[in-house]
Amino acid sequence: FKKLKGELLTSVPSTQEFKEAASFYVNKDESTVSITVVGASGDLAKKKIFPALFALYYEGCLPKHFTIFGYARSKMTDAELRNMVSKTLNCRIDKRENCDEKMDQFLKRCFYHSGQYDSPENFAKLDKKLKEHEGGRVSNRLFYLSIPPNIFIDAVKCTSSSASSGIGWTRVIVEKPFGRDSDSSAALTKALKQYLEEDQIFRIDHYLGKELVENLSVLRFSNLIFEPLWSRRYIRNVQLIFSEDFGTEGRGGYFDNYGIIRDIMQNHLLQILALFAMETPVSLDAEDIRNEKVKVLRSMRPLQLEDVVVGQYKSHTKGGVTYPAYIDDSTVPKGSLTPTFAAAALFIDNARWDGVPFLMKAGKALHKKRTEIRVQFRHVPGNLYNQDFGNDLDLATNELVIRVQPDEAIDLKINNKVPGLGMRLDRSNLNLLYAARYSKEIPDAYERLLLDAIEGERRLFIRSDELDAAWALFTPVLKELEEKNVIPEYYPYGSRGPVGAHYLAARYNVRWG
Ligand code: NDP
Ligand code: BG6
Repeated sequence: FKKLKGELLTSVPSTQEFKEAASFYVNKDESTVSITVVGASGDLAKKKIFPALFALYYEGCLPKHFTIFGYARSKMTDAELRNMVSKTLNCRIDKRENCDEKMDQFLKRCFYHSGQYDSPENFAKLDKKLKEHEGGRVSNRLFYLSIPPNIFIDAVKCTSSSASSGIGWTRVIVEKPFGRDSDSSAALTKALKQYLEEDQIFRIDHYLGKELVENLSVLRFSNLIFEPLWSRRYIRNVQLIFSEDFGTEGRGGYFDNYGIIRDIMQNHLLQILALFAMETPVSLDAEDIRNEKVKVLRSMRPLQLEDVVVGQYKSHTKGGVTYPAYIDDSTVPKGSLTPTFAAAALFIDNARWDGVPFLMKAGKALHKKRTEIRVQFRHVPGNLYNQDFGNDLDLATNELVIRVQPDEAIDLKINNKVPGLGMRLDRSNLNLLYAARYSKEIPDAYERLLLDAIEGERRLFIRSDELDAAWALFTPVLKELEEKNVIPEYYPYGSRGPVGAHYLAARYNVRWG
């Protein structure tokens, strides 16, 4: 099997590898995929997982034989689950034909089983139902753990009792957070590996499934004009910005235990950074890409306290409407110091990036929703046109903006002459706006990731050594922030965030874009 895939057999294959190999040879019509959404009554399942599964079904991406099971403690019949799910399904704007018919067909393949997350008996009953649906075909099973992290291990332990027993594969998608720090993450990995092999674990970071994040490698490695510029020689700083224009509404209980650094920076923004900064991988194979990501993460300096600014949003009244403070949320402990905003300066100590600040900024309840990568290039040496920018060199530098969301776009800011007889310079955008260029709706990140998990493609999932390297960068500073009870800078709901973020950037001669 490995030879067929052009890989070398370097070690004795694991049971999972044998199963993957066997299912590779089975005629797809003879096999079936059972997808169990564990925590099916929850927010993520309703908001993202079922709609993504339906979109895959609509696009004809699911195998011929598949069944979807919702599993949770809540009591529900199949009909009640279908009713709940039907409210969340949507056809793409550009594909409305047969929409209702497709939804009906999809819902008929959704079932529900109620049970406890720590009960092997309840999971054994699920296994029985799954077998009935599989009808003796080779059974491949995917479990999506869409539950709070404190019950991951119990659920994983039990899923092994309803794992595929034949030659089919069993894979488990695990949602973030993967621990709170290096130790808890290592403990979680160790516990997961008691029941699963590493290649059965699909740690999801949904930012990796976003169109423009996937496009990063294409932009870098298939355009001759960018890769030669992609280093300290030409890039002055890189900014990774995440902002939401709403607070933690409804998720305060979860959020307070984690804070914005763990919720966004350590995973979503750091993953983008790794893809942005890694060396060229040997191939597009999952392991080659993940090897490069680990290498760049391990070349990074652990974050220092003086390179971090934390903030928390406070109540603000605008236009007669009062927006609540973070601590007004009834699920947030009184006097909580948990940051809802953070800015940080990170550095990669390797030949390519030595001395280039990678600035991250992430916050909730800010003035707008956006996720962007901004690349500011160096000044043009001896620029003949400096006086046209009032000698403000920052105004004259090129900037590449990759807008991950909303309104996906790639903008390259260049200088040009204003047309006319005089000689005046202007800043313009070479702009690729996805909505204008492509009429097709962009699939949700969860669609891509679910499809990859079904197909056994691990490229967009986090390997355990990547996770260790990511936690090693943030754990010391997170501990220090907590031990020293660092008071966050308070910023009004809907504002641009704490002014401290500007002082931090200024220390590295950076202006936020
Ligand atoms: P929920 O809080 O909605 O929980 C999902 C389900 O788990 C609930 O419907 C409930 O089902 C069960 N549950 C909740 N609390 C407990 C508990 N204390 N003990 C046992 N069972 C419990 O979570 P979400 O759907 O919001 O998130 C699921 C996972 O995805 C989490 O790990 C979260 O961190 C992650 N995630 C969520 C995102 C989101 O936007 N919601 C975004 C990114 C990640 P029942 O009572 O029926 O058993
Ligand atoms: C999740 C965080 O991982 O990502 C949330 O836990 C955040 O706090 C969400 O709101 C943002 O995802 P998206 O895809 O809406 O940008």
